[in-house]
Amino acid sequence: MNISTMFSSTILSWCDSKIVLLFLFVLLLLISSRRKRIRINFPPGPWVIPLLQDVLTGFDHHAADKAAKKYGNIFSVWRGCVKIVYVSGFQMVHEVLVTQGDNFLDRPVSPLYNEAFKGNGISVSNGYRWRRQRHFSVSHMKSIGNGGRTMELNILKECALLCGAIQEEQGGAFDPHMKINHAVANVIGFLIFGKCFSSNSPDFQALLNLSAESVSLVHTPLAQLYDMCPWIMRRLPGPHEIILSNYSKLAYFVRKQIEIHKKDWDPFYHRDFVDSYIGEIDKRRKDTEAGFRVENLAYCTLDMFEAGTETVTSTLRWALLNMIKYPVIQEEVHSEIERVVGRSRPPCLADRVYMPYTNAVLHETQRLGNILPMNTPRVARRDTTLGGYLIPQGTMVITSLSSVLHDKSEWETPLQFNPYHFLDSQGSFRKREAFFAFSAGKRMCLGEHLAQMELFLFFTSLLQRFSFSSPPGPELSLEAQGTAVMAPRPFKVHASPR
Ligand code: HEM
Repeated sequence: MNISTMFSSTILSWCDSKIVLLFLFVLLLLISSRRKRIRINFPPGPWVIPLLQDVLTGFDHHAADKAAKKYGNIFSVWRGCVKIVYVSGFQMVHEVLVTQGDNFLDRPVSPLYNEAFKGNGISVSNGYRWRRQRHFSVSHMKSIGNGGRTMELNILKECALLCGAIQEEQGGAFDPHMKINHAVANVIGFLIFGKCFSSNSPDFQALLNLSAESVSLVHTPLAQLYDMCPWIMRRLPGPHEIILSNYSKLAYFVRKQIEIHKKDWDPFYHRDFVDSYIGEIDKRRKDTEAGFRVENLAYCTLDMFEAGTETVTSTLRWALLNMIKYPVIQEEVHSEIERVVGRSRPPCLADRVYMPYTNAVLHETQRLGNILPMNTPRVARRDTTLGGYLIPQGTMVITSLSSVLHDKSEWETPLQFNPYHFLDSQGSFRKREAFFAFSAGKRMCLGEHLAQMELFLFFTSLLQRFSFSSPPGPELSLEAQGTAVMAPRPFKVHASPR
């Protein structure tokens, strides 16, 4: 390199760094000036250094719980130029999700999700389109899905395959994660595509991996930076590139399945969600606002896969971990299974009412597992008064499910695994108002019934066949990990046939 090239490249890099510094300075000024325009009576909150603290270091549910102790059940935090209100405790969260639920029904617009989902799907859409898409999905799940015996039989088939795969381990130590994940994903696969995929199907494995990778990347600080300044991030490398590419590959996989369905589609016999949706596209041709299009079908399908796979898998992993940690409780579950189901037949849903203890163990697993601590964000549709504060229209609102599931005024021993939270003095199952694992109100989880069916059938089938214990070595951790779904850290188990 000659002197003049060296000189010009030094000048260029000096200019580059000046431009970056100037850009950061202008961005900080913009953020600060927006932050100053706080309305009167807006909830108080910690002041965080723009960019550094609010995005790059993140503000997770632990930080939120700590801030709630200082500022109260309603406090605010800025993320870049976006004001966010955090709401904690059963009473206040109930107020947002149920009592004033209509004012907080919408999801905020996320540029990253918008680009990935193109305004389609259920979980990120709003208004009339969301209502129609959600209503259709719920009715489908009631008719073919969780309302019918077909779905139960299909889950039981997956339970038998899962037990078989565990049996093959012959009592050796193994990590149950992928086996459970495959079985659970197949339940959704059946609901949507009417078929199960083999564990060695490369397409299906790729679908699961791409989806898991996108979900975990969406919550990383850099991906969140995309939502703050999409116009810049679009031009820079980062996790958003992987997320967007994964979603287009996923949508391609689903579109291929839709094409296969179209070939032998029968208007009088709908095999699955895709078939019913194709029928709905035809029926609602004139109602363009409702959004029944092939493109939307692909994204609704992805929504169900994402929302219904990691959640149920992580809950079942928490359930196994709890059984290992609390062998006395495991014994109690074993004896209830022995009494009600026996060993000569598989369990079925009708057994659930006679198994209050097992049902309570599963609810307690969900309560303490707390897999979606900060729920999915909402946005104020209109100016609303909440706890004496004014929440202006357009404010993002995060409801802490974690604070409800661990609320001291609702639970006798909030931080201990205690199935008696869900049992009355007679030993019958007791519903609890503050059980918000699936959220609450009109926008609560639409897969709740399916998830409860899966949890009961998988868990009871596994414990009917095996006793679970920990392999020798360091004690298993009950600490959670994850960004979107709080799952157990990887762990190995011994499954001894009973
Ligand atoms: C243990 C399992 C599950 C848990 C804990 C769970 C929890 C949740 C929560 C907390 C929400 C956000 C609700 C809100 O904004 O207030 C949600 C939404 C959603 N869930 Fe689940 N879920 C589970 C399983 C499932 C399953 C099996 C499916 C699919 C069939 C599913 C489909 C959905 C969908 C589509 C949404 C978006 C609803 C909307 O925006 O209208 N979930 N879930």
